[in-house]
Amino acid sequence: MGAERITEGVYKLGAIDWDRRLFDSLIPLPDGTSYNAYLIEGSEKTALLDTVDPSMVDILFSQLEGVRSIDYIVAHHAEQDHAGVIPDVLVKYPNATVVTTPKGKEILTSLLRVEDQRFITVDDGQTLSLGQRTLEFIHTPWVHWPETMLTYLQEDKILFTCDFFGSHLATTDLYATDKARVYEAAKRYYAEIMMPFRQIIAKNLEKIKDYEIAAIAPSHGPIYDRPTFIIDAYHDWVSSPPKNLVVIPYVSMHDSTRKMVAHLVNALAKRGVKIEQFNLEATDIGKLATALVDAATIVVGTPAVLGGPHPHAIFAAYLANALKPKVKFASIIGSYAWGSRTIEQLSEVMSNLKVEILEPVFRKGLPQEADFKALDDLADNIASKHKEHNFV
Ligand code: FEO
Repeated sequence: MGAERITEGVYKLGAIDWDRRLFDSLIPLPDGTSYNAYLIEGSEKTALLDTVDPSMVDILFSQLEGVRSIDYIVAHHAEQDHAGVIPDVLVKYPNATVVTTPKGKEILTSLLRVEDQRFITVDDGQTLSLGQRTLEFIHTPWVHWPETMLTYLQEDKILFTCDFFGSHLATTDLYATDKARVYEAAKRYYAEIMMPFRQIIAKNLEKIKDYEIAAIAPSHGPIYDRPTFIIDAYHDWVSSPPKNLVVIPYVSMHDSTRKMVAHLVNALAKRGVKIEQFNLEATDIGKLATALVDAATIVVGTPAVLGGPHPHAIFAAYLANALKPKVKFASIIGSYAWGSRTIEQLSEVMSNLKVEILEPVFRKGLPQEADFKALDDLADNIASKHKEHNFV
């Protein structure tokens, strides 16, 4: 793709990565992604906002053919998918200066070895004139690294947000026209990247609330020309109470745990509770993370193996613990053949969650009538807790 015009003098550059299937060696990308950069021409100066992943440097450089001068490279975020090509752009444009937060300078120096004299750092609220256009920098730490900031293009009322409000979505759409598809991708992205910093994200949402915003231009996925679509979604994901939803990641070795999960799922459904069940043998962890955005309760299902939980169950519990969703309740169900420390170990792994642990159902061998009755009691307990808190 070549450069795309947003308005006269403001262009979207960057690359669509249709084929990438994993980010940070962890996050599945079922729909690929994009690395968006933006070029803003003022009457006196030109700024490039973010770059692209180093694997796509040639595409960015082909788009920059004919751009004689770049004065500023705004680095909203130091992660390599946006900043990795900054050293190459600095070579191509020897008079260019990197504009970033003080923390951004520290991280870019450390990760990319950019030289000290090539930086200017900006304070929160500081402006930079390009001539008839003005960039205003808004510090928004922890979306999702500590150095992150946004740029508000005052005259055109465009907010450039880098990862914030982004979506891993490979598409040739300049704008978010397929709302359902973008919503799903943006929610998955929020779950995987932003959710652990939910409380800080809430503060950052508050910080931009008085800006008049005509468009939000993130550095992954399409531009939002109706910004309330994504701002309202973020408010819901960050601040609304959890929903009447139980997420059940589970693994089973010899069917006992699977039978217990099936029974609990039926019992919860009969009580009007929604469920999302994930077999950890083959789970897209992005889907699990997305389900956790709304879940009020997590129930981990595992057999005992080698004296503790199955490693797949440990992974799911560790992931939930790291993502810090809004869940209020947790429990553990499963089966063992002889002794284990499964309950203690899994509870410890989920200690960040600050949840009330509901009586686990961890029973010896193939589940029998008394075990199914205990699962019914757990379903009763979950349903009444959700009702008590008005989770709908
Ligand atoms: Fe898109 Fe945090 O990098």
